[in-house]
Amino acid sequence: MLSKRKTFYITTPIYYPSDKLHIGHSYTTVAADAMARFKRLTGYDVFFLTGTDEHGQKIERIATEKGMEPKEYVDRIVAGIKKLWSILDISNDDFIRTTDERHKKAVQKIFKKLYDQGDIYKGEYEGWYCTPCEAFWTERQLNDGKCPDCGRDVELIKEEAYFFRLSKYQDRMMEYIKNNPEFIQPPSRQNEMINNFLKPGLEDLCVSRTSFKWGIPVSFDPDHVIYVWIDALSNYITALGYETEDDSKFKRYWPADVHLVGKEIVRFHTIIWPIMLMALGIELPKQVFGHGWLILEGGKMSKSKGNVIDPVILVEKYGVDAVRYFLLREIPFGADGVFSNRALIDRINYDLANDLGNLINRTVTMIEKYFGGCIPAPQEEGDYDRDLINMAVETPLRVEELMNKLQFSNALSEIWRLIGRTNKYIDETMPWVIAKDENSKDRLGTVLYNLAEAIRIISVLISPFMPNTPRKIWSQLGIKDENLGTWESVLKWGNLQPGIKVSRGQPIFPRIEENGDNKTDVLQKQDRNNEKSSEGNKGKTVKRENNGNADYITIDDFAKLDLRVADVLKAERIEGADKLLKLELDVGGEKRQVVSGIAQFYSPEDLEGKKVVLVANLKPVKLRGVESQGMILAASDKGDKRLAVLTIDRDLPSGLKVT
Ligand code: MSP
Repeated sequence: MLSKRKTFYITTPIYYPSDKLHIGHSYTTVAADAMARFKRLTGYDVFFLTGTDEHGQKIERIATEKGMEPKEYVDRIVAGIKKLWSILDISNDDFIRTTDERHKKAVQKIFKKLYDQGDIYKGEYEGWYCTPCEAFWTERQLNDGKCPDCGRDVELIKEEAYFFRLSKYQDRMMEYIKNNPEFIQPPSRQNEMINNFLKPGLEDLCVSRTSFKWGIPVSFDPDHVIYVWIDALSNYITALGYETEDDSKFKRYWPADVHLVGKEIVRFHTIIWPIMLMALGIELPKQVFGHGWLILEGGKMSKSKGNVIDPVILVEKYGVDAVRYFLLREIPFGADGVFSNRALIDRINYDLANDLGNLINRTVTMIEKYFGGCIPAPQEEGDYDRDLINMAVETPLRVEELMNKLQFSNALSEIWRLIGRTNKYIDETMPWVIAKDENSKDRLGTVLYNLAEAIRIISVLISPFMPNTPRKIWSQLGIKDENLGTWESVLKWGNLQPGIKVSRGQPIFPRIEENGDNKTDVLQKQDRNNEKSSEGNKGKTVKRENNGNADYITIDDFAKLDLRVADVLKAERIEGADKLLKLELDVGGEKRQVVSGIAQFYSPEDLEGKKVVLVANLKPVKLRGVESQGMILAASDKGDKRLAVLTIDRDLPSGLKVT
């Protein structure tokens, strides 16, 4: 009889549909993917879920502004998100959309069940609502009258609504967290939940809205749509077929082994979600892991602040495996981490090009030079061999232990320790010296075999983090046998068969030459922009020069300016004019061409997709022979050393008048 394989169910949060998911969003998904791949490698039957959280007032508003149906709008965005995951080699087993019929029906049943058993009741809600965050706040929670999460304006809303009795489950929830120390990770987040939310007491949660329509209707009271968290959190079980005819996946994979979430949504996942499950009589997930944020100078990366890094640009520039490696290696999972170009380039040059790349290159070159390209058979064990072999077979166990604690960065450090050890083995054994002695052919063969076998083990260990690199290493080492890529094969030394033919190829990770062809212009610009914005915040006072008789303009003077929101459709350099960029703009459906002297501060990619402010009634002129139909606004200092283009930080339609 076949024994039942152990299962592993891992989820990311479901993402709000946004045109551009940034590298911060990619961080959660890349981490979940590495974990899913690691568990598959170590023999688990894995289910890895991600998806999109598509309902809510904000989406409804944006779609209306664009003159689209919400579904039409989200369909387009979701296609982009799926594409991004494929670019990042994400191996999810399912992609749940909260607009899927399977999800909507199950959520309606969940809501009805909670209502029928008295855990949801009807009342009246009055509270402060932050539309961008889709969160209600009490007066007490507001920060200077603004949303405590994003600092934006909130509106006072009063309406009939359904409520979920969180308060009834408060004590059980507290007990559960105390009795299950593994449930909330890292442990610091556990204290935060107990002290900041559970101890002060839970208020019942508003779970329906009547002020907008874009949501799942309450089946027995269709004027209400189900408020976002009940809808969103249920995805983790609706994707498994909970409350459908086929709930075999639910039976197989639930409870989830780990929900990976960013720290700002730990609260929803460790209080509301488990209470929902308790009320439904469903087992709780084994763990919720709240990771930190990827930040740039100026704070958490976010589209509205304009300080985002686009993962697609990074992947195009450096390759997907280098980006994945950087994200998982640089920042200990759980803590916040600063994203910087310097750190990324250093990781690529030192860890990938130098440590790993050179190891492979040196080994393959020596096998070609001394053994005609055939991996030699090892003979008697000699000096230094045991140390390398011991470390190579112990590393997988250490990596497994760390991965089980989601310590991606430490797991990679262990692998790099082995890479470092293998490089040191070359220096210790000095194959080029052995090669000079005709009688030491056996010893030379043993050394080179050991190097090739260590590299094979390394290639398997890195595969969850860098899914494309092992194939490239294998092609250089000449390995074709899939059995050499299994977890079992790395727990024992010596599985590599001598006699296979190596073939040296291009360096797997070319060094990034910062002043050469490989210039990191896009990133440098992104950095410079961020520096500029943080300098701009340093509270400089602006002196207004006037002679006491203020040189004001009247509102009528100002009204002469026709300022408009414009979308940058395309940007390109102008040959022979190193300061100028030619921009193609959309201004409420009308196309405009503008030439702007910003090429030393922005590359075309920086601007495409941005919303800028156009002086639309400026007399057209020709600059370097190219017609410019208006001017975009930018701020700069006198010496033109620093410059920033004015952009619109909300998704307003182009053509709107700026007043
Ligand atoms: N839709 C909700 C989640 C519902 S789950 C039932 C949501 N979506 S989100 O798109 O705003 O964020 C998705 C994930 O991306 C969150 O875990 C969030 O923490 C993560 N990140 C967004 N920006 C981030 C960084 N700058 N750094 C790291 N992670 C970040 O929240």
